[in-house]
Amino acid sequence: MAENATPDRLVSQGPSEDDVVAALDSLDARPETNLIGALQEVQDRFGYLPSPALEAMSERSGIPLSRIYGVVTFYAQFYTEPRGRHTILCCRGTACHVKGAGRVLEAVERELGIEEGESTPDLMFYLETVACLGTCFLAPVIMIDNEYFGMLTPQKVAAILQNFRAERQ
Ligand code: FES
Repeated sequence: MAENATPDRLVSQGPSEDDVVAALDSLDARPETNLIGALQEVQDRFGYLPSPALEAMSERSGIPLSRIYGVVTFYAQFYTEPRGRHTILCCRGTACHVKGAGRVLEAVERELGIEEGESTPDLMFYLETVACLGTCFLAPVIMIDNEYFGMLTPQKVAAILQNFRAERQ
């Protein structure tokens, strides 16, 4: 990465035209016959679906841009804004709620400086809440990617997030 190309700059600028051309040139899936597959490949490449890539895909394939956006907005797996690489799911279900899920969520938000539905500026984490993670015996519980962290306290949350970040940098 270039010295001044911080993640923040990349997010605000989006991909270059060359990046978009290279991404579309290298698609295995043809948008005309497999639009969802093509969108998945573009999202894998950029981490989200930048609007210039969708516009270029529309021009190349002849598929109306409105139809492409229709597919993108229909499927929850697609998103048009950059997201953190690691998704944190904070349970707000009843079992977790009575055991302090609210304080756990506050601790996550405080530690990362973001709220539900937001990503950290370095795009390391994306935060969501869910109705139940199916592990109520671990309440209160959060999940980071596919890993459960249960019986949490605000203090434990801070340590978990700091360790997680340290291990992956
Ligand atoms: S209510 Fe939190 S895991 Fe079920």
